[in-house]
Amino acid sequence: MTKVVLAYSGGLDTSVAVKWLKEKYGCEVVTLTVDVGAVKDLDVIRARALATGAEQAFVVDARDTFISEYVWPALQAHALYEGSYPLATALARPLIASLLVDVAHQVGANAVAHGCTGKGNDQVRFDVATTALDPSLAVIAPVREWGMSRDQEMAYAAEHGIQVPTTKQSPYSVDENLWGRSVEAGILEDPWVEPPADAYQWTTAPEHAPQSPQHLEIGFESGVPVSLDGEPLGGAALVEALNKIGGTYGIGRIDRVESRLVGIKSREIYEAPAAVLLHAAHSALEDLAIGRDVAKFKSMVSSEYADLIYNGAWFSPLRYHLQAFVASTQKFVTGTIRLKLTAGTIQISGRQSPYSLYNPGLATYGDDDTFSHDAAIGFIKLWGLPIRTAATVQGIPHVHHADGLRSGDTAPVTSAAE
Ligand code: ARG
Repeated sequence: MTKVVLAYSGGLDTSVAVKWLKEKYGCEVVTLTVDVGAVKDLDVIRARALATGAEQAFVVDARDTFISEYVWPALQAHALYEGSYPLATALARPLIASLLVDVAHQVGANAVAHGCTGKGNDQVRFDVATTALDPSLAVIAPVREWGMSRDQEMAYAAEHGIQVPTTKQSPYSVDENLWGRSVEAGILEDPWVEPPADAYQWTTAPEHAPQSPQHLEIGFESGVPVSLDGEPLGGAALVEALNKIGGTYGIGRIDRVESRLVGIKSREIYEAPAAVLLHAAHSALEDLAIGRDVAKFKSMVSSEYADLIYNGAWFSPLRYHLQAFVASTQKFVTGTIRLKLTAGTIQISGRQSPYSLYNPGLATYGDDDTFSHDAAIGFIKLWGLPIRTAATVQGIPHVHHADGLRSGDTAPVTSAAE
């Protein structure tokens, strides 16, 4: 090992890692800090990396790439892990890994490093993405290797003159980016404990959120969110705006026990106002613009897609193939969805699309009905034919016979089984 590129957040773990990598492997360390929507002060972080002994310190604003190349495909796929986690952390990892690999090539490094522990999903995502992009690069995970407790890390930092962040230490482990905030550990490890108020930073408690409703209109073009209340907005700006508004209304709190890839159940708190709003709006638009058979098949793809993002398989053939299907389904997902927010709740209050499959003439119960009622009779005969045949020949198991009916309650119960 001669040179390693370390994904550097500026926190205690990765600051200690700079020194530790140099000591343990005798290599040069180059740091890379990627802003996917949470990094407060890139210059301070870069200075800290250099002060800690990094040869070079790169910082990259990857917010737009994150949204357009990772978040939008996941939104279009309705990728929600175990039905609810919008995958903020999981989506950012392959992007950060790809930038680590780019920088490694640029500076001629032969390894990359990250600050993940040995019991989470993130190590899998970093390692697998890196080896997919360049199998010749070694991947080092100092925290997974060194076995130091937090106190030991603090002692190591003091001993080596490492400047550690002076901000008050959070009682939780937090990861955040534009698509959401994840909170773990501390008292949250007890799944019986309701999250203390300080676990939430982006969202108002629904019980304190405004009671008076607010309406929002989100415009989509071919499955991509492009405007808010009629005003065109770029991806990152749109997500930021929705995180603010949704957060004010107490939208997007998710508290769950999750099945990690490494076999552990863990308790997770998420705040993801924009993700929850956009998933609701995008789904509502698909209800209008995508037919029943495609929607049903797509829901199977959604669950596969969510699993593969969660499981670190972003750069896998399955992802590319599913992506091709999802992209094809989005062609007519164009239109506007109106949402009504009240404390902690979202209602779809209006939808429109130039490609809407909703046909008022067919749907109406009014005078201008164009639906063929006569055709329904023949249709039902044939639709029901195999069910009627099976019931006649083979009977229907477990039919509940209404015993003890008083005469006059209903007609006698008959069954094809008898
Ligand atoms: N459970 C989430 C995932 O696997 C978040 C993991 C990182 N979160 C954290 N608070 N350190 O994607």
